[in-house]
Amino acid sequence: MTNKIGILGIGSYLPEKVLSNIDLELMVDTSDEWIKERTGISYRRIAEKDVSTSDLAYEASKEALKMANLKPEDIDLIIGATVTPDMLFPSTACLVQKKLNAFNAACFDLSAGCTGFIYALICAHEFVKSGMYKNVLVFGAETLSRIVDWEDRNTCVLFGDGAGACVVGRVNEGGVISKILGADGTKSDLLYLPAGGSREPASFETVKGKKHFIRMNGREVFKFAVSIIEEMVIKMSNQSGCQIEKIDYFVPHQANIRIIDSAFKRLRVPFDKVIVNLDKYGNMSAASIPVALDEAVRTGKIKKGDKIMLLGFGAGLTWGGVLIEWGV
Ligand code: COA
Repeated sequence: MTNKIGILGIGSYLPEKVLSNIDLELMVDTSDEWIKERTGISYRRIAEKDVSTSDLAYEASKEALKMANLKPEDIDLIIGATVTPDMLFPSTACLVQKKLNAFNAACFDLSAGCTGFIYALICAHEFVKSGMYKNVLVFGAETLSRIVDWEDRNTCVLFGDGAGACVVGRVNEGGVISKILGADGTKSDLLYLPAGGSREPASFETVKGKKHFIRMNGREVFKFAVSIIEEMVIKMSNQSGCQIEKIDYFVPHQANIRIIDSAFKRLRVPFDKVIVNLDKYGNMSAASIPVALDEAVRTGKIKKGDKIMLLGFGAGLTWGGVLIEWGV
């Protein structure tokens, strides 16, 4: 049995409805020019009213299973990464299991903000490495449009809905080379959703106070993001012995083009090595990285043998990265 562990298949799904910057101009005091210049975002996708996170995750998971050439019953474990679960419980992973008929799978969700997919990918890797499970389905899926205050120009221009998924298992070629996870709970107040949990259960007051929407200190999150990307790239390069120049592609969390620009300029990485799709979709939290990776694979940009670095950061604060050789 090979001791390499990697991605057997990947997939993504985006709702059809597009919300442009021009549409947003009619909703809040903003402009297409400001949004593009300050964030790099032009469009985002919005799930229809009757569509929830598990629906998006289900569609992405089907594509990942197809590429992996596996049936739903071959999946031993489903790990869901989301900050917009269908409900507080049961887990969205259980709801996806039901939709897929993946009845041999154990299921759980994890909460790591926009780093969720990286946390889930590393968990999946460890479950396979330990021998407990063979095929682990991981998804990052979000309907952030449900927790965005559409009257707050500081946040509503940034986020979108979507889902990405992959199957993790033993591979003959390629696989995970290096990984890193981290968190700093002292900065939990930089990006959070105040109410609906045990601290402030839903009430008339919490609804009136708009406490069921994203709260964010944009400037502080921005500074953190730039420095943590740089730190992770250097750490994983040192850890693996793989020089930064030898990495073919970087897939950073898609939060803001200026974050990506600053971080990779500091690292002297040419911009054509950085996968960016945030102009089309905005920040989709846990879904951003797998969607960007899936698109780069399906359009033939990322090929077998390429070394790719996935870089996540987000609420918590959390961060995480994976260096992987693409083997599919
Ligand atoms: N349209 C027009 N003006 C806007 C605006 C919008 N959509 N959003 C904010 N502004 C205004 C602000 O009100 C502020 O006006 P003021 O100076 O009169 O108070 C001005 O633009 C500058 O605000 P500032 O916060 O300095 O802008 P910025 O250049 O830092 O950009 C963000 C704001 C949110 C785009 C940026 O900080 C960011 O992307 N941060 C990271 C957020 C993130 O990625 N979060 C998720 C991480 S996982």
